[in-house]
Amino acid sequence: MQSQLTPAHYLDDSIFAREQERIFRKLWIFVGLQGLLSEPDAYLTRTIGGIPLVVQNCAGVLKAFVNQCAHRQMPLMFEAYGQGRLACKYHGWVYDAEGAVKTIPHADSLYQYPDAVRAGLCLKQFAVQTVGQLVFVNLDDTPLPITEQFSPSLLAQLEGISVHFSPQVIHATMPVRYNWKLNFENVLDSNHVAYVHPSTFRPLLDKRPPSVSAPAPDASALAETRLVDLSFSSHMPMAIAPMPWHALVDRYVDTAPADSYYNFFLYPNINFISVGGLVFLVQQFNPLAPDRTEVAFHLMTAQEQQRIPALPAILWGHLKGETRVFEEDRALLEELQSHMHAGAARAEHGAYEALLQRVAAVYLRLMGDAA
Ligand code: FES
Ligand SMILES: [Fe+2]
Repeated sequence: MQSQLTPAHYLDDSIFAREQERIFRKLWIFVGLQGLLSEPDAYLTRTIGGIPLVVQNCAGVLKAFVNQCAHRQMPLMFEAYGQGRLACKYHGWVYDAEGAVKTIPHADSLYQYPDAVRAGLCLKQFAVQTVGQLVFVNLDDTPLPITEQFSPSLLAQLEGISVHFSPQVIHATMPVRYNWKLNFENVLDSNHVAYVHPSTFRPLLDKRPPSVSAPAPDASALAETRLVDLSFSSHMPMAIAPMPWHALVDRYVDTAPADSYYNFFLYPNINFISVGGLVFLVQQFNPLAPDRTEVAFHLMTAQEQQRIPALPAILWGHLKGETRVFEEDRALLEELQSHMHAGAARAEHGAYEALLQRVAAVYLRLMGDAA
């Protein structure tokens, strides 16, 4: 079956702008880990759907604000992560925990705002939802319930697994030259692993080829696919070489064999994996332009039950391994993107790619393009 997406969906600026508006400014988008925001006034900054954000610990409650001063739009926070009160470096305005302007130096002499203007000065605030350690933000004025995007059972699973995260996180971002959708499609496609990762990732996994679990969806099955159906978890057996530190952490185990590879797909742009409940990696594909994406990694082990002096080296080693696998995907996806052109044929999906069909059907509906 031909893909419902055309080359324009990977190339076109106006389609990209509509994605920003109808997907990234409408859905719940992961912004970071709660453990990095546990101190008073700890913050992180992100840009989502073209909107610069600061997510701040305000007296123990996580709040998300636009990261632009109400005066002349200077960013309040410049760094990706930090700690500091909501105050502007340009002319010294200070904000309270609700984002309202608390103090304006020389307000009466220099600004002379009418009371009604002064009372309305505040930062636009956005909805925040934490799922265990995972922090999500929604930029819509009337955010959809998060259970319409992630099922209650998936949310419970994410909460259960993320309490095992160590607060020691290694974070990396990589700019890549392909469309964000190619990365989400790639992680949903386990058939590529044998060809793209023959000596890195493949040897650790079950050698049987992936099977087709359901018949290819017909038009009515595609029309019935809901947003919530695009996010799910899976696991498969994995060969994990035992290491001494494995006994020193609070490992996550569900009903699967302990040596499993856990995989969570969170639409639109997260692939969260765990190697045996010992190592966790949140991968996010942040769109920058039709042909540019920032891939962000958050990597951590399970929580230490006692101090592990080698932890930084362990994290570094895992990051290096994950990056090596990722670079194998990146090399191909950049080739794929760079050869796309407006007149190219659409992808021809086989039965095993039913999920890609379902993702495209929901995507087109979100975009207002559904047949
Ligand atoms: S721009 Fe922030 S105080 Fe002037
Ligand atoms: Fe891959």
